[in-house]
Amino acid sequence: MYNANDKRYEKMPYRRCGRSGLKLPAVSLGLWQNFGSKGVYANMEAMVHTAFDLGITHFDLANNYGSPYNGSAEENFGRILRDMRQYRDEMIISTKAGYEMWQGPYGDRNGSRKYLTASLDQSLKRLGLEYVDIYYHHIFDPNTPLEETALALDNAVKQGKALYVGISNYNKKQTEEILKIFKELRTPFVVNQPSYSMLNRWIEEDGLDRSCIENGIGLAVFSPLYQGFLTNKYLNGAPKDSRVGRGETWIGDQLDEKMLTRLNRLNDIAKSRGQTLSQMALAWVLRNEAVATVLIGASRPEQIVENVGCIDGLEFNEEEIKSIEEILK
Ligand SMILES: NC(=O)c1ccc[n+]([C@@H]2O[C@H](COP(=O)([O-])OP(=O)(O)OC[C@H]3O[C@@H](n4cnc5c(N)ncnc54)[C@H](OP(=O)(O)O)[C@@H]3O)[C@@H](O)[C@H]2O)c1
Repeated sequence: MYNANDKRYEKMPYRRCGRSGLKLPAVSLGLWQNFGSKGVYANMEAMVHTAFDLGITHFDLANNYGSPYNGSAEENFGRILRDMRQYRDEMIISTKAGYEMWQGPYGDRNGSRKYLTASLDQSLKRLGLEYVDIYYHHIFDPNTPLEETALALDNAVKQGKALYVGISNYNKKQTEEILKIFKELRTPFVVNQPSYSMLNRWIEEDGLDRSCIENGIGLAVFSPLYQGFLTNKYLNGAPKDSRVGRGETWIGDQLDEKMLTRLNRLNDIAKSRGQTLSQMALAWVLRNEAVATVLIGASRPEQIVENVGCIDGLEFNEEEIKSIEEILK
């Protein structure tokens, strides 16, 4: 029987998601990798418990998360939740639909009402929940009218199956278009989920972050550690037991000499701040006022403990920022 740590709310900052009433922990846990049925269940459970004990109240899922089959992460999280029932109201659980999920034209990558409606019912069943806190459209679909996608998300809220809605992998222009429709519908659209890290600053270049601030939408950013590059794991190249070493990511090719030099220089700055590289990388992302939360991934509980330590050093001085910019150029 799991009993949460009594001190879990003592340190974690909770940040307002845009101009909504929803607060998210500065650090949230994503279950994209390492929660599928090919993983070790006891490790998954330990990661969720460790996270919750540290004040991580937000758990991010999607219909297709889990290996070797889509949906296995939701199944495993649903199993873990059975023993955490008493904490349900202390949690923000999100799921998504948009990428390829099941066979045929309705479970393919799309944003149709048919797909979003059926997929949410499937997710709720796997999770063992009556509702999710946030339901996302996972990736912009150029072939479905945005009105249809927006209405499908809005309908999930009207049916009581989601409290808030979000979008993911939408750029500034696409976000502003769907926002207009949500405003007309008065849909509780509060969160946008793009990728963002020291090594991936497209939201700054696109202006998505500024636009979201102006429009009161919070960002829950994914891969803030660039899938693990921004940790002490790759400083001497890719170890076998890593996402790159296991061949579980497409970014392995980017780990060349130039990248290794850059990571080591960043690590020197982190050390001078009394932080690990992952802690500094997360603090750097949280500096962007558009960001409500960083969605970290983990393969073991110790990584979560280390990463949550970023909250002890969220401030940067001007010199540090200048040196970091120089390295990232
Ligand atoms: N909306 C979308 O399209 C989308 C896409 C991707 C992700 N996401 C969300 O974002 C979440 C996080 O994505 P991500 O897993 O790519 O995030 P990430 O935090 O950038 O990378 C996580 C990985 O880095 C390594 N790591 C983390 N902390 C470490 C530490 N302290 N020391 C050493 N290695 C460490 C681990 O990999 P190893 O130990 O296995 O090497 C871990 O699985 C996902 O779970 C999902 O919820 C959303």
